[in-house]
Amino acid sequence: MRLEQKKAIVTGGAGGIGRATAKALAAEGAAVAVVDLDGEAAEAVAAEIRDAGFTAIAVRADVSIEPDIERVVATTVAEFGGVDVVFNNAGIIRRTTAVETTVEEWDRVFGVNVRSIFLMCKHVVPVMAAAGGGSIVNTGSGWGLKGGGQAISYCASKGAVVNMTRALAIDHGPQGIRVNSVNPGDVNTGMLRDEAGQLGQDADAFLAEAADRPLRRMGEPHEIASAVVWLASDESSYVTGSALVIDGGGIA
Ligand code: NAI
Repeated sequence: MRLEQKKAIVTGGAGGIGRATAKALAAEGAAVAVVDLDGEAAEAVAAEIRDAGFTAIAVRADVSIEPDIERVVATTVAEFGGVDVVFNNAGIIRRTTAVETTVEEWDRVFGVNVRSIFLMCKHVVPVMAAAGGGSIVNTGSGWGLKGGGQAISYCASKGAVVNMTRALAIDHGPQGIRVNSVNPGDVNTGMLRDEAGQLGQDADAFLAEAADRPLRRMGEPHEIASAVVWLASDESSYVTGSALVIDGGGIA
């Protein structure tokens, strides 16, 4: 029980990586607020955690909207008594080049992937600082470090996540708050199937291509979750500002 007495927020908690991480944090003793745009699916994940004997609530929210984020933080504090851990993980992808991307799509991707993290930190850092510290983990992407094809807004947004993580670590380290990013390669979630659809490709062929890396398979959500648990826990007490790559050995 590496997270006993800890209180955690997981955004995108109804999706592949978020659900696995919410369950993993809870299994280590954390009380978890499962936050998602899909309120019913978030409630299902929270119920699953409670049925396993752990503590969770669900909060429906659009993480790109400031009043929603304020409500997420206030609800978590009211229900659990504080916030020690935040996993800023909600994200969307648009598989388009700059020429194909509309301004509205660009703004939506940045709203969900980037502004959300700024807003969460704006409202949760004072809570953490008053309690003596905390751990924030942001979901970047291998493509936030290396770039990738036909995903201009996504690559730009994830690059922003990686560098925003470093800037947050610099600003809030003196308050005892550690901030790190996890940067997955292809992980077996609904997002990959959605990408295949956006590109007009067969999902099975798309997933097979995702396995073309040294470990010869794509990642599973629990393999990201275990890294987030470590970054959330005191086992990583001297780690901040880092960009942890979890990609089975490199993606082009
Ligand atoms: P997913 O699609 O299974 O989960 C994303 C979740 O975010 C969904 O439950 C969705 O409802 C929620 N969400 C979307 N917009 C939201 C909003 N405005 N407010 C609140 N919730 C919202 O996808 P997955 O793979 O679990 O993605 C999680 C994170 O991992 C994302 O940030 C994604 O960019 C990142 N990632 C995923 C990779 C993959 O191969 N699956 C690779 C690299 C990064």
